[in-house]
Amino acid sequence: MKEKIVIAIDGPAGSGKSTVSKIIAKRLDLLYLDTGAMYRALTLKTMRLGIDLEDADRITKIARETNIKLTMDKGGEVSVFLDEENVSKEIRTPAVTKNVKYVACIPGVRRRMAEMQRGIAKKQNSVLEGRDIGTVVLPQAPFKFYLDAKEDVRSTRRFKELKGMGMDVKLDEIKNDIQSRDASDMNRELAPLKKAPDAIYIDTTNLSIEEVVEKIISLV
Ligand code: DC
Repeated sequence: MKEKIVIAIDGPAGSGKSTVSKIIAKRLDLLYLDTGAMYRALTLKTMRLGIDLEDADRITKIARETNIKLTMDKGGEVSVFLDEENVSKEIRTPAVTKNVKYVACIPGVRRRMAEMQRGIAKKQNSVLEGRDIGTVVLPQAPFKFYLDAKEDVRSTRRFKELKGMGMDVKLDEIKNDIQSRDASDMNRELAPLKKAPDAIYIDTTNLSIEEVVEKIISLV
């Protein structure tokens, strides 16, 4: 079987991963996989079921029984389905954002997510974005990037994005959330956010979306 094209894009919240990955997927006709959305969808299910967010065993079991699917339409609009229900908007609420770190540090959950992500990348040419794609999920990926930007810039981007989705958010709260998620993503024991040694580092602080896209496409 011919090797699939896989682009791995990691980085902290607000570094531009999602926006850039979606455009690249569309231009190069690749499947786009937002792995953060998968952790968010499972967090939402856990919250709805009223399960203690630190109950690793139950949440691991739920992860194994849950169906999470992402689709992208012709216009580049991504939808996230949790057991067939469209939860694209609900997974972006501040409550889910605050709780996702508990679910994301459960070993059984990460194993399940990585399994699903590898399965997808094996079947289709794809761009996967997240925190551990180049380091843990697909360390052999031929194209790896680590996007980063100054904290203030990342917070402002996320603020505008959520406002654009009609959410009533405050910049200060977004800043606090980004700081706390950076800390838990980078310091957790399992699959912490870090640049893979062979990933290309791109500081997007002063770059436009198009400049980042061009940079990645030219290297791929
Ligand atoms: O990309 P995002 O902000 O939607 O991701 C939400 C959270 O999910 C993030 O704070 C950490 C977790 N995550 C993870 O642990 N591993 C991934 N590959 C992607 C996301």
